[in-house]
This record gives sequence, structure tokens and C-alpha cells, in this order.
Amino acid sequence: MQKVYTKVTDKLDFFQGVDPTELAEKYGTPLYVYNERILRERCRDLKNLVTYPNFVVDYSAKANGNLAFLQIVKSEGLEVDAMSPGEIYVEKMAGFEPHEIFYICNNVSEEEMLYAIKEGVITSVDSLSQLEQYGKLNPGGEVAIRFNPGVGAGHHEKVVTAGKKTKFAVDPEFIPQVKEILKKYNLTLIGINQHIGSLFMTGEAFVKSIGSLLEIAKQFENLKFIDMGGGFGIPYKKEFDEAPLDLKDLGKHIDEALYKFAEEYGSQVTFRIEPGRYISAECSVLLGTVHAVKYNHDKKFVGTDLGFNVLQRPIMYDSYHGIEVFRKSDVKSEKEETVTVVGNICESGDILAKERNLPEIFEKDTLCVLDAGAYGFAMSSNYNNRLRPAEVLIRENNEVVLIRERDNFEDLTRHFIPLK
Ligand code: LLP
Repeated sequence: MQKVYTKVTDKLDFFQGVDPTELAEKYGTPLYVYNERILRERCRDLKNLVTYPNFVVDYSAKANGNLAFLQIVKSEGLEVDAMSPGEIYVEKMAGFEPHEIFYICNNVSEEEMLYAIKEGVITSVDSLSQLEQYGKLNPGGEVAIRFNPGVGAGHHEKVVTAGKKTKFAVDPEFIPQVKEILKKYNLTLIGINQHIGSLFMTGEAFVKSIGSLLEIAKQFENLKFIDMGGGFGIPYKKEFDEAPLDLKDLGKHIDEALYKFAEEYGSQVTFRIEPGRYISAECSVLLGTVHAVKYNHDKKFVGTDLGFNVLQRPIMYDSYHGIEVFRKSDVKSEKEETVTVVGNICESGDILAKERNLPEIFEKDTLCVLDAGAYGFAMSSNYNNRLRPAEVLIRENNEVVLIRERDNFEDLTRHFIPLK
């Protein structure tokens, strides 16, 4: 195998001696590949974010909900959040106890809320309507509320989840009404939470939002926990040496706020965060195969099996993912050129990387898309009746194990009911 362009995976020792072209051959592509060592490192980074003693990291499973992945996260001592009954179900399968799951729902039916209540999972509601609904379903129960701290952040307007333009959370203006509903149904508010948006690379907005959240917290007595949300970014432009988030500096600022609050509030509140991307993005790459190379007018296209059915982020948010190149054959070229890397879906928008400078790419090359583990498989689909990819894990001892089978035609058709 030739390592044609492999700067980032080499530096991380991502493949640990495993040959990606052989993985592609053995398991087929597209293929999500995870590295257990890096996943564990990311879990530990965030467990050590602050020195404040009552601190819990809830992994946000929406970023990657693979069962084996969750089992590893659990073994690192993290807890989890959930966004749907389906996530609660899989998290329980992975070994999380109900008290280790935090259900942060948005606009859910009575049935969905009841599912969490019956499972003994603490629920956070994010509107007065949903608080009323919760009160009717579980009078006398314990509940949490998601507040809007007024400050948002994120890599794209679609993922900013606080501030003036979002559907999420309760505006603190409505605290008097919140208190009335709590009283009406004899509910105990045990926690408050926020999530300001996804992917910040500097901590200012996050720290500011914590300040607002703590002011909100002071308006309620005897809270058991305050959840500051997720959003911790990762550098997607690693090949250009983009700097990572400075966790040490961020942790210091968060610590200051937490200790000060704990002293004033007078009781031992647990602080939580709920990172998804930071835990899951960098421990995974997506492998694909080049099936065609061509010019259309003066534009060169590299045609792959990496359509937006397997990785939606580039077309959904214009997101950048680094691309590396591995080659089984001994074809050689010193050329570098500007190409557009596309998938096999029937839309012109099916573009993985627009006008990217890469070494010359040939048919049968294996492409390796970096930082694919967060919102990669999780947002994949069967569009064009394509099969969702397999997922494999490189274990710490370099063994490779399959952790999800590729879909087959039966999976595609099992829910159809033919006309008689
Ligand atoms: N907590 C709540 C309530 C959330 O809604 C989210 C993400 C998280 C935590 C975790 O955020 P993270 O730490 O991963 O930034 N599909 C988009 C990202 C959507 C994020 C949705 N909510 C993307 O691919 O960039």
C-alpha cells in the first residue's frame, strides 16, 4: 500500500499498523472506521475539564449512537443524554442505568414523555406547554427545565440553539409562569440545563452563557444539578494545523464560575456538560473508493461511493472534512491538482469537497475522510435505496472488529407491505 497523502492519520497513528486499503477490501466501502484509543482519550480530556468535584460528563449520543461505541463511553465512566425514546432504549442496551440518562426533549408527545417517566429517566422540558404536559403525566414528580441563556454559538446558523432565533428552551422571562406550573402539579425542579449550539473553538460565548445560566439557577432553590450543555469544537482543518480548543484555559474559566456559584448557592450542586462532537468526531474516519475520474468542461471530478447518504455534513452545512489518499496499486504521480470530490447520488449537490487541492487521484484509490465520527453515520440515510455502511473498530491491541453490519436488501425492504 502507498500512503499518498496521510499527514493527519500518521500523526495520530490512527490506523495503528492496520492497512486501510485492506479494510476497504475486506469490509467494502463506504466504511466507518473507529479508533478505540482516541475515543477513550477524548472521554478522559473532558472528564478532566474542571477541578470542581461534582462534575459529570454526559456524552450526547445523537452524535454517534453505535452500541459498541456507547459501551466504551460507559466504561470510561461517562453518563449520557438522550433526545428520543430510541436513544434511551439503545443507551439502556449499552448498560447505562436510568439515573445515568438525561432525556432532553423538544416538542414530544405524551407517549414519548411517558416512556421516559416509566423508565425512571429524568426529563428536561423546554416550553411551558411541555411542562404542563409533564405535570399532568407525572404530578408530584421531579423534572428539569432547559433555559435559553440568551447567548448562542455554533459553526452554522442551523446549529445555534440559544439566543433570539431558536425554537429551543424557555425564555427566563417566563420564570414566574414556570413557578406557577411547578406549584400547580407539585413538581420538584431538580435541575436546569442549556445548550447554546454546536462547535465553538473559543470559550467566550460558552463562559458568558454559564454566567446567565447561573443567574437563572439562583432563582430556584435546592437544585441538584446544572447542565451547561455541549458544543465543544474540534479542528476540522488539521492538515493546515488548525489549533484545537484550549480546554485548559476554558476549564479554568468554568471552574472560577462554578466554585463562586457553589459558595453563594450554599448547597452541593452537580455540574454537567453534554458533549457529542468532541468525544466522537476525531476517533473516526470514513473510507471510500474512487470509481471514476473525469473532466466536465474544465472541471475535474473524482467520483466516489461517498455520497451524502453516508456523510451529510458537507451538503447540509457546507462543512469541511479533510481527505487523505491511500493506494493499493503502484501507480505513481508527483502531480497535485484541484478536484471536486463527489458521490454516487442523483443530485448535482452531492459534493463531498469542492475544488480541493489534492495529489493526483486514480480509480481504485481509497479515500479517507477525516473527523467523520460525529454526525456522520448518525445522519446517514438510505436515500437512493443505498445501503447504510458498516462500522469497524480498531481496538487498543490493533485488532479490528465489526461493530455494525452493512445494510442488506432485506433491511431496505423489511417494512414494505405489498398489495395483495
Ligand atoms: N446537547 C443538546 C441538547 C444538543 O442538542 C446537542 C447537539 C448536544 C448536546 C451536543 O452538541 P455537540 O457537543 O455535539 O456540539 N448535525 C450537526 C450538529 C447538530 C448538533 C445538535 N445538537 C453537525 O453535524 O454539525
